[in-house]
Amino acid sequence: ERTQVGIVGAGPAGLVLAHLLRSRGIDCVVLERQSRSYVEARIRAGVLEHGTVDLLTSLGLADRLHRERMVHHGIELLFERSAHRIPLTELAGREITIYGQHEVVKDLIAAWDGPLEFSVSSVSLSGLSSSAPIVSYVDAAGTARSLRCDVIAGCDGFHGVSRASVPDGVLTVHQRDYPHAWLGILAEAPPSSEELIYAHSARGFALHSMRSPTVTRMYLQVRPDEDLASWPDERIWSELRARLDRADPSWKLADGPILERSVAAMRSFVVSPMQYGQLFLAGDAAHIVPPTGAKGLNLAVADVKVLADALTSWYATGDRAGLDAYSETCLRRVWRVQHFSWWMTSMLHPTGDDPFDLALQLSQLRYVTSSRAAATSLAENYVGFPFP
Ligand code: FAD
Ligand code: DHB
Repeated sequence: ERTQVGIVGAGPAGLVLAHLLRSRGIDCVVLERQSRSYVEARIRAGVLEHGTVDLLTSLGLADRLHRERMVHHGIELLFERSAHRIPLTELAGREITIYGQHEVVKDLIAAWDGPLEFSVSSVSLSGLSSSAPIVSYVDAAGTARSLRCDVIAGCDGFHGVSRASVPDGVLTVHQRDYPHAWLGILAEAPPSSEELIYAHSARGFALHSMRSPTVTRMYLQVRPDEDLASWPDERIWSELRARLDRADPSWKLADGPILERSVAAMRSFVVSPMQYGQLFLAGDAAHIVPPTGAKGLNLAVADVKVLADALTSWYATGDRAGLDAYSETCLRRVWRVQHFSWWMTSMLHPTGDDPFDLALQLSQLRYVTSSRAAATSLAENYVGFPFP
């Protein structure tokens, strides 16, 4: 079999790339290791930048998103038991959209009528430095297959095979691990605030987010090796209440049945370059950000926009300049987002009992909530810079 672009992975990066290529008349095949029901149920991010929404809208993929999303114009920073609003739209001129990543994934799959195979296994890449790289795999029925491509897009996430298929010595890794993780829950409870609350407290960070008028999404800073078994429902709720507590006595956290729970490690990671021969890495396959800036999904979409533009001119004119510059173009945005995500993480997560760190965090929080210049810097990064 053959195609123009072989796409490994049907997460946001792979699926948006597939739709972009299709809209420009370029053939592709998407191969996904998990089943359709698995990827459609995987609860992850929830904040979409304006640029992400615009791109999905221009592809005709955002009808349900526009009907069901929640549009937010600000976020709250809570520290020393008092809440301070950052008016994002007023300061940065753009709103943000709350809409679950798995809802985006469902919409992209439902609208796709091209080749997409779920439940493939034993995926391996070869001939990456040639003009006809090959993806070998075993399909859902157990048959060994191979797909000859012009280009392979490695959209298979942090633990995928694409990055690992590049010969040793080509990629440089930049990495930072954090001494904390996030315990996330989805709960059948109405949001207790109209906007997201990023809360700093001596007990640790907490985030109040939402998915709909009846479903909240919340996170607690925990240790990286935290065992979910030691977090029964009542412990989760009492910890959330303690960390989100504020001096205003009229504020109360609504609770309800917990629908889903998981612990996610926090990491900053970048490979450079994001390409080798005819293989181009996009999204989590090339970089991971800690979740505090809500950027992972948006960055994945920005990467594939750059890749689709470069492939479009390569196929149209034979000019490789865009493809050759892919990594450099993407890494400018990647490093801005890396810095912002590290900065938000450092400001909001107490690391222990070092009083120096704590004093710096509180000073920074007072500064971003009292200086219009500092708040504007946070806001323009949070809403996201225009897509390339
Ligand atoms: P992915 O969504 O990981 O998609 C990669 C796809 O490739 C997957 O479907 C995978 O099954 C498939 N795959 C893997 N290996 C193979 C293979 N060998 N062959 C074929 N297919 C393969 N970001 C936030 O902003 N906020 C959050 O709260 C947040 N929470 C997260 C929680 C978790 C547990 C994780 C893992 C990530 C979270 N993120 C969050 C980050 C965000 O979800 C990612 O940045 C985003 O999913 C990146 O999209 P992607 O398409 O690059 O990768
Ligand atoms: C959500 C996740 C984030 O990482 C974040 O910064 C804000 C919101 C969410 O899942 O809703």
